[in-house]
Amino acid sequence: MPDTLTITDNRTGKQYEVPIENDTIKAIDLRKIKVKDDDFGMMAYDPAFMNTASVKSKITYIDGDKGILRYRGYPIEQLAENSTSYLQVAYLLLHGELPNQQQREEWRANVKGHTFIHENVKKLMEGFRYDAHPMGMFISTLAALSTFYPEAKNIFDEATRKKQIYRMIGKVPTIAAFAYRHSKGLPYIYPDNDLTYAGNFLSMMFKMAEPTYKVNPVFERALTILFILHADHEQNCSTNTMRGIGSSHVDPYSACAGAAAALWGPLHGGANEAVLHMLDEIGSLNNVPAFIKAVKEGKGKLMGFGHRVYKNYDPRAKVIKKLADEVFAVTGKNPKLDIALELERIALEDEYFVKRKLYPNVDFYSGLIYQSMGFSMDFFPVLFAIPRTAGWLAHWQEHILDPDQKIARPRQIYLGPAERNWVPMDKRK
Ligand code: CMC
Repeated sequence: MPDTLTITDNRTGKQYEVPIENDTIKAIDLRKIKVKDDDFGMMAYDPAFMNTASVKSKITYIDGDKGILRYRGYPIEQLAENSTSYLQVAYLLLHGELPNQQQREEWRANVKGHTFIHENVKKLMEGFRYDAHPMGMFISTLAALSTFYPEAKNIFDEATRKKQIYRMIGKVPTIAAFAYRHSKGLPYIYPDNDLTYAGNFLSMMFKMAEPTYKVNPVFERALTILFILHADHEQNCSTNTMRGIGSSHVDPYSACAGAAAALWGPLHGGANEAVLHMLDEIGSLNNVPAFIKAVKEGKGKLMGFGHRVYKNYDPRAKVIKKLADEVFAVTGKNPKLDIALELERIALEDEYFVKRKLYPNVDFYSGLIYQSMGFSMDFFPVLFAIPRTAGWLAHWQEHILDPDQKIARPRQIYLGPAERNWVPMDKRK
């Protein structure tokens, strides 16, 4: 049986044979389908990329129907359970294999060698208004890094590329923590490279007068797992942005700033903040049925539910739900948990949600944990962006080195006016 698709154009009766590879046809092969010789040729219309593969990737695999997520082949549950550090998983995403002992030491040393930021970056951050949103500060500061490392534009030089990767993974927790301290009017805390990636971040966030910050091991482990779960998610909105911007061959700081901006929206990484606002709005268990009714009537969404790819329980949400119990054992239960559990219980039984295959996603429970650990709500998207930086960089690198890729430039179906003549002002309606 040939691996081809035969298409009959009923407008002309002509038949076309199109090759199939990986259960996919190339959209460009449709262009030979024409009515007249001088036609442009057929295109595929696919708003929001609902059924378009724009890349061949070896990084992350998702089976949305079965609720499977794997980084470089490793199930997310195994990575969350066995990886003692986020940096190991970042290495895996970027290099394709788990590091051996020596590679791990080198990688850690290289990243830790770049945790400090230039004092002028700090000054730049100090220039933000006292109440600046930490995600806005984070995005702008990432973009500003391109001015500190102008050599980063040499993206096809391997050594230069590696250096920017160390820098970016090393610096994002520092920038994030400085943004937080700024918004609280607290002095910035410099990195402590004796701590783990997550431990150092907690120290930069919460250290006050103590000479060495004592990291709570439960929080450190919880944050490590949350970082691992958020490290990559194949071609999501922000990663697609990273690839799209990167396809113009700009430096990776500018591309990452764009990706982080895409992440900020409430339909993407801003959802965990939106979940907590929603839980606040619901207020008490008694109000849950009325809220669900309103959602079903189209008066808003159940934030933290639904996913473009998962039509099953998000495997990350399962891990997070378990993690929540461990954190709440230390902090005491987040009072909003009961409302969240009741929402989930009703939604998993209700026909509206069942029919649409709407299950809790990664953001449904993560915000509750973050809040109990002392993070403010506006900081949640930043907590997502820190670990996702490794995913963005892995995709960026894969993209610019992929010979199939060119500058991202979709087509459009033009439905505006046909050519018409200039109308002088006194003749306009
Ligand atoms: N609550 C109520 N109804 C929903 C929800 C929801 N959360 N999500 C989807 N629906 C309905 C939607 O109204 C539509 O119904 P109908 O067929 O009657 O028009 C149907 O389900 C299909 O939804 P869609 O909007 O076509 O699905 P999508 O793939 O375009 O959107 C989504 C995916 C994640 C943007 C959406 O489910 C959503 O807005 N969820 C809430 C926000 C959220 O939790 N986002 C975090 C996503 S996971 C982390 C990340 O990616 O950053």
